[in-house]
Amino acid sequence: MTREEALVLMKSKLRNKNLQKHTIATEACMRFLARHFGEDEELWGLAGLLHDLDYEETAKDASKHGLVGAQMLEEIGIDERIIHAVKAHAEHVEAQSNMDKAIFAVDPLTGLIVAATLMHPTKKLANVDTQFVMKRFKEKSFAAGANRNNIRTCENLGLPLEEFITICLKAMKSVADDLGL
Ligand SMILES: [Fe+2]
Repeated sequence: MTREEALVLMKSKLRNKNLQKHTIATEACMRFLARHFGEDEELWGLAGLLHDLDYEETAKDASKHGLVGAQMLEEIGIDERIIHAVKAHAEHVEAQSNMDKAIFAVDPLTGLIVAATLMHPTKKLANVDTQFVMKRFKEKSFAAGANRNNIRTCENLGLPLEEFITICLKAMKSVADDLGL
């Protein structure tokens, strides 16, 4: 599956623009992390773009989130490693590969970075730096939905939190126009 095909599929399943942006942010972070680790950038990018395909469909039954999406991807015969990552990001299976671990930690971080940007005086990603995000990370009540423990699992990849945030921030800046930030 090409990136363009994945984008069309994602947009056909997710109507909410913020959700679309979330998957684009996740894709960008996954690509930058793959590059950092010398892994398959296309594969990791696709996993990011497709990880929440069922989000709207499972809105009324969150326990199925990740499973329905994995099923959709199985039906189109996508790479097994992506299917595993989709299940792992919603904790249906254990995160095993680096790609599984990366998407699990990235998922909540994208939300924290968006929320931090919106409270920055300029509201522009370009002006947000790692220290600004680190400060917001430490404020427990800020964007409380962005699970700090899950973000911290970047350490399972051997990435200290600050470095993880730096890579993902750079990634999200590269798609700032798409994110409207
Ligand atoms: Fe997500």
